[in-house]
Amino acid sequence: MKIRSVILAAGQGTRMKSRLPKVLHPLLGKPMLQYALDVVRGTTQDLPVVVLGHGAEPIRQAFAGQADFVIQEPQLGTGHAVQQAEALLAGHADLVLVTYGDMPLFTEQTIDCIVQAQKTHAGPVTMLTMMAEEARGFGRVVRDEQGWVKTIVEVAQATPEQLAIHELNVGVYCFEAGWLWEALHRIPLSPKGEYYLTDLIDIASSAGLTVQALVLEDGGEGIGINTRVHLAEAEAVLRERINRNWMLEGVTIIDPQRTYIEPDVLIGQDTVIWPDTYLQSNSKIGSGCILGPDTIIRKSQIGARCKIYASVVEGALVEDEVEMGPYVHLRKGTHLGQGVHLGNFGEVKNSTLGPGTKMGHFSYIGDAQIGAGVNIGAGTITCNFDGEKKNQTEIGAQAFIGSDTMLVAPVKVGEGAQTGAGAVVTKDIPPYTLAVGVPARPIRKLEKRE
Ligand code: UD1
Ligand code: CA
Repeated sequence: MKIRSVILAAGQGTRMKSRLPKVLHPLLGKPMLQYALDVVRGTTQDLPVVVLGHGAEPIRQAFAGQADFVIQEPQLGTGHAVQQAEALLAGHADLVLVTYGDMPLFTEQTIDCIVQAQKTHAGPVTMLTMMAEEARGFGRVVRDEQGWVKTIVEVAQATPEQLAIHELNVGVYCFEAGWLWEALHRIPLSPKGEYYLTDLIDIASSAGLTVQALVLEDGGEGIGINTRVHLAEAEAVLRERINRNWMLEGVTIIDPQRTYIEPDVLIGQDTVIWPDTYLQSNSKIGSGCILGPDTIIRKSQIGARCKIYASVVEGALVEDEVEMGPYVHLRKGTHLGQGVHLGNFGEVKNSTLGPGTKMGHFSYIGDAQIGAGVNIGAGTITCNFDGEKKNQTEIGAQAFIGSDTMLVAPVKVGEGAQTGAGAVVTKDIPPYTLAVGVPARPIRKLEKRE
């Protein structure tokens, strides 16, 4: 049986009051529509068909290759929106799953459940409902005396009795394809001048066909986003889901409500996460780490048993047993070897620090290759930018950089070399040599340390 999906995303999202199309608003780092696309993938075949209208171009660009796109112009309602997919799908699908692009929280199990239920259902449609105290503007599900779903009424058309109904239309449907394409043409124009997809339910039941309704167990899945209040609510649900999952996998989260882990992040067992920590953009965290409080890690890989406190780590590779913080900023291209220690107020960009290297206080290292066991004194700066280009600094293993040293790149400090406090290094320093002053001059050879 061939199952295709249609995701509706042509609406303006007026209630978001935004220049950004609604479905591009991010939830934990990913645009809302990404969730809708990901969740149908397991159950349906080929690419989903996304119906676009308002803000079509940026959405099409953001999801190129992930979906087929059709344009609905003008936007005459959800029923009219599904119609736009007919040319692409008629004759190519037995079942058509329809979801809304502004509902990002469904689980794959829920979507699969609906599709499986429709496979064995004699009637033309299976839909999803939920019971909720707060109706949030959702359509109300009206059942007949036998309990069969008869119709869905939208808020604008509902009577006071209907408004009191607690069963809501979630907005996921699986249709028998042949019936769908034919019935879409029979939707009447609503008083608001739209063709409501939800009228198909009435069309089916009036013709004596059964509408199968599955009731969503976890109402949190059915959060649709119309306003930024809903956006925050949906993100809270997603966050709770992700955090709970990691806790069950053996990660300690001190305060789950103040911990922000994006969906594609991986975390090793026995890592402890303190509040106000953000793990983002496919970062990978090893086991036994202590992260936070007040830490942001994005696009980075962190080894095992690292301690990262009140720091920002972006685009960095950090090996095992590294300690840093408070107030360290690692930027793109940073590679810290095993056991590196970075104390307060350090910034590292596009540089490698070898195993065991220490940089305790107030330093900037940019475009540098630093060996193992180097001691970088307080206030050391690589002067890597000459106003035109970035220049490299090299520091050999076991070197000892005195406090407040300026390394005017391009420059090399040899293995085991030392600089005096306040040195301004403009020329290469040979290995095992002490250089001091402004500009720094070699004054003495040094014993090779064991
Ligand atoms: C819709 C349902 C309502 C349900 C609720 C759940 C209809 C008529 N109503 O109401 O029963 O409880 O969702 O969230 O279906 N869209 C288009 N083209 C259009 C109009 C809308 O693609 O011409 C898209 C929107 O971008 C959105 C989705 O369809 O992704 C739903 O539209 P929206 O206006 O948000 O409908 P609701 O009022 O939320
Ligand atoms: Ca909606």
